[in-house]
Amino acid sequence: MNREFRALVYQRAKKQRDTRPFGTQFDVYRSGYEWINHSLAPIEITDKHPRIKFGGPGCQKPYLVSPLNISAMSYGALSQSAIMALNKGAKLGNFSHNTGEGGLSPYHLKYGGDIVWQIGTGYFSCRDENGLFDKDLFAEKAQLDIVKMIEIKLSQGAKPGHGGILPAAKLTQEIADIRHVPMGAAVVSPSSHSAFDSPTGLLEFVSELRTLSGGKPVGFKLCIGNKSEFLGICKAMLATEIYPDFITVDGAEGGTGAAPIEFTNSVGTPLRDGVIFVNNALLGVGLRQHIRIIASAKILSAFHIARIMALGADTVNSARGMMLALGCVQSLSCNTDECPTGIATQNPARYKSLNVSDKSKRVANFHQATVEALMDLLGACGVQSLDELDLKHIYRRVGGTNIATYEDLYPAVKSLCLRCGMDIPKDWKKIWEAASADKWH
Ligand SMILES: Cc1cc2nc3c(=O)[nH]c(=O)nc-3n(C[C@H](O)[C@H](O)[C@H](O)COP(=O)(O)O)c2cc1C
Repeated sequence: MNREFRALVYQRAKKQRDTRPFGTQFDVYRSGYEWINHSLAPIEITDKHPRIKFGGPGCQKPYLVSPLNISAMSYGALSQSAIMALNKGAKLGNFSHNTGEGGLSPYHLKYGGDIVWQIGTGYFSCRDENGLFDKDLFAEKAQLDIVKMIEIKLSQGAKPGHGGILPAAKLTQEIADIRHVPMGAAVVSPSSHSAFDSPTGLLEFVSELRTLSGGKPVGFKLCIGNKSEFLGICKAMLATEIYPDFITVDGAEGGTGAAPIEFTNSVGTPLRDGVIFVNNALLGVGLRQHIRIIASAKILSAFHIARIMALGADTVNSARGMMLALGCVQSLSCNTDECPTGIATQNPARYKSLNVSDKSKRVANFHQATVEALMDLLGACGVQSLDELDLKHIYRRVGGTNIATYEDLYPAVKSLCLRCGMDIPKDWKKIWEAASADKWH
């Protein structure tokens, strides 16, 4: 992570001075420099902590989501102290905490912070002895009041198409019990789901989980890969009239506890390209109004949030930002069990030094200061509410004296064009035609 933004997270988490002296250190004349323009008539936004309603037509228990929440990180990848501090932080600041694919542990439940329960290909905490999805186990936990939403994990940006790995060194008996897996070997989540094998199957699974959870919002998380596969999901939405309540778009630049280097460096679509594509696809099929978009990957400052919201995100998640708030020093030892700050380790000698009460306040402080900075930024731009941010607000120097807005750089598709088959942009036509609701490829 860039030092400037890492320092910003530390300062906001510790409620220290977070201003900068002297002026920007960025080279504002380099290609790629991006900014938002202010208004000569700034406004004071009084609602410093807005909430965004999640829950489309099929949902009976909508949930009001903070603009910034804790991204998926499992108990297993993180220590019990880290999970407790994150969850207590979420409770203090009234935002949500995603469990990650490693299941729902007692540490997620101890302090009462709102939970988004993530279900990955290993179906941890809701699997039978063969590793298959178990409806009854799922329903029992999904109906807990503290569980506010369900997220099906299809992929994550740091290792899309690869599945998950919990190194054997970090597998304790307790984690094995929570996940319902045997001790002794690395816990590998398969690269694909066994509960469905097509876009239509995915949506039927969304609908099944919504029913089993008692009507809570259900969505899925992915890093955009083959575009026609995502459009296949859109076709399946049109055919089945089952809509996910949200889609979490993770960027290829996202973080992980452990992943092969080829995957972290060179597989998957970066966040901004992924979000604009998903937003356009949902507009094109006329379903954007039913489905929220969550974005994650290297979002640390209020400008990062505003920029991705301008591209189409409704809310954002942060994983490594929250780790930094907990005191992560980027020692890059998440995959060795030797994390010196007690965050990404199962070694009691290390994680016992992480003070849950102290660190939970830092997580809440980081959240509070960042959301307030976002609302300040919005006010300075004369924008009344988050949903008014759009492509025309963000500028980029594209070379020399050439400046473009995101509106110029990322042309929006016409609303309903994919559904009606009219005015489909040239570069969408082929992938739309190749997309199938019944099979991935
Ligand atoms: C230690 C660690 C563990 C993670 N575990 C999961 C996981 O279980 N499921 C998941 O979907 N993403 C997981 N992620 C990815 C994050 O949820 C997030 O999508 C990604 O890191 C991008 O956000 P960031 O740049 O704010 O870290 C993990 C990331 C980290 C750093």
